[in-house]
Amino acid sequence: MSVEADKRAAAEFAAQLVEDGMRVGLGTGSTVAPLLPALAARGLTLRCVSTSPATEALARQVGLAVEPFDEFTDLDIAIDGADQIGPGPWLVKGGGRAHTREKIVAAAAARFVVIASGEKVVERIHEPVPVELLAYGASATLRRLRNVVLRPGPLSPDNGVIADWTGAVEDPATLAALLDAEPGVVAHGLFGPELITDIVVSTAGAVDHRV
Ligand code: A5P
Repeated sequence: MSVEADKRAAAEFAAQLVEDGMRVGLGTGSTVAPLLPALAARGLTLRCVSTSPATEALARQVGLAVEPFDEFTDLDIAIDGADQIGPGPWLVKGGGRAHTREKIVAAAAARFVVIASGEKVVERIHEPVPVELLAYGASATLRRLRNVVLRPGPLSPDNGVIADWTGAVEDPATLAALLDAEPGVVAHGLFGPELITDIVVSTAGAVDHRV
């Protein structure tokens, strides 16, 4: 079974966790892409929030109702992919530049479901760890955070500068605290166990669901 088929299997499994009337946070990326038609196919009445313009466009194409996040104080469930799933569990997210919105949506959700194909599971969290910097003073922030390198390409959906922390990750919690303490860092891509309720991983067609 291909990686793409595993992404679809994990996404389709997660779509079954959504119930009628729920307020749903939609993540970003190639694993979330097959989630959207799978959710739409269920024919439920849902209110959705999107973490990126790309997801919003795809969601509307399949007929999901997407509303501004300002309309909600909290969400019932959010479903999103990951770049790495490590022990803890800790995640690395932000390969698609949307991790700030993704973290806000995950934190607002009563249930945060991570979906992935098996190759995203790692024995240890490793570099690169995406970081979004406030554009104001970004050069000064980069100088202070010595191990962070600018990532070529577009800004984040909220016009933040995207960079990547590089180096050995001895302890994700320590690195998360270091990045959280830097005034110019809007958000980093380390998502800790306090955010995660479910992990759905498909490996060679076998779906593993951990709660
Ligand atoms: C978006 O910024 C990311 O956090 C994605 O959720 C993550 O990179 C996973 O993407 P894929 O599902 O495309 O691998």
